[in-house]
Amino acid sequence: MIIKKISKANGTLSVPGDKSISHRAVMLGSLASGVTEISGFLKGADCLSTIDCFRNMGIDIDINGENVTVYGKGLRGLEVPKKTLYTGNSGTTTRLLCGILSGQKFNSTITGDASIQKRPMGRVTKPLSLMGAKIENEYCPLHIIGTNLHGIDYTMPVASAQVKTAIILAGLYAEGKTVVHEIEKSRDHTELMLSAMGADINVNGLDISVSGASDLTSVRVNVPGDISSAAFFMVLGAIMPNSEITITNVGINPTRTGIIDVLKEMGADIKLENQRESAGESVADITVRSSALKGTVIGGEIIPRLIDELPIIAVAAVFADGETVIKDAQELKVKETNRIKAVVDEFTKCKIDINETNDGMIILGGNPVYGADFKTYGDHRMAMSLTVLAQMCEGSSSIDDSDCACVSYPTFFDDFYKLGK
Ligand code: S3P
Repeated sequence: MIIKKISKANGTLSVPGDKSISHRAVMLGSLASGVTEISGFLKGADCLSTIDCFRNMGIDIDINGENVTVYGKGLRGLEVPKKTLYTGNSGTTTRLLCGILSGQKFNSTITGDASIQKRPMGRVTKPLSLMGAKIENEYCPLHIIGTNLHGIDYTMPVASAQVKTAIILAGLYAEGKTVVHEIEKSRDHTELMLSAMGADINVNGLDISVSGASDLTSVRVNVPGDISSAAFFMVLGAIMPNSEITITNVGINPTRTGIIDVLKEMGADIKLENQRESAGESVADITVRSSALKGTVIGGEIIPRLIDELPIIAVAAVFADGETVIKDAQELKVKETNRIKAVVDEFTKCKIDINETNDGMIILGGNPVYGADFKTYGDHRMAMSLTVLAQMCEGSSSIDDSDCACVSYPTFFDDFYKLGK
């Protein structure tokens, strides 16, 4: 697809629902007793994979636009899957399901697309095995033999909300208490939702404990706009001259707002207004205006708070004065594609001064940038980041696969070009 260029970006938009919260609402709604009404659900391919998997285990789920109704059958209400559970491109579906399926009375098999089959599952199957789980393989397809689980005390070697959540979900089925120690704080939507549903879960800084549960109570879930999707417009508004973009109803859970902290640090004119609480999550309207950006250093505890935004933050760095260093981000190598290599290879095509490091990249911004024929590697966040990058390039650009954006943001290109009108 040739990437059409806009000369300025102005207007107000709302981005689709948060991917992480949408997944969890369907999963926990399925395990709760009673009906879970979800509004603002993200109808992206990943979350639809989650719905498919739970329908496959006997859960009735109605989809009506962005409103989804899940008819939960209780913690012990899942049925033997009618077929292999197919998780598509979704790491969250795959890893969280491992936690749930380990403690069932039935056996199951999970697999996904070519990207999922290359992503490491040992990070979940190892701690689950310590709880007594029986899972063959460290890559998909995973064969899970449902069994009795017991609580563990586990210190996580990586900062990962997917791993943490898989252990917590298995903990609901385990005898005794399960304790997880995080090395850095990762997104906590599971903890918030489980607590609202009445689970015996306690969070103390980086330590989370959960007891085996007998029941979860369904709650209403209002999914806020996904800050990871809003991120493309925050950066677009900041780097493009004469622009002002307002994104309404964005989730600003503090475990997710690293992008705002970094853009402010880089000098972006970014404001949060109308801050409010919605079903246990914080929400705000975010306005970004064209700004003169400067380079920065991004590393340490902030990384899990912006891990999915690093490709678009790298775009911001290209148009910032001076050097931006992204470090401690080796987790990028095991995302939908190796996002360090993908960003460096594609940005190099535009003659950007960028160097790959072991745990990130170094970008020298402020130089002329030229259009190119980009590869997305089938990665939704690469497709959207490269579309923003292309706007500021001299000459024309294309991407080999625009459809992959539908994983997290099916209406991305429509929303994008509306801002240019
Ligand atoms: C997610 C956690 C993150 C993130 C992913 C969604 C989640 O992955 O990259 O897009 O919903 O728990 P890790 O837990 O592997 O860091």
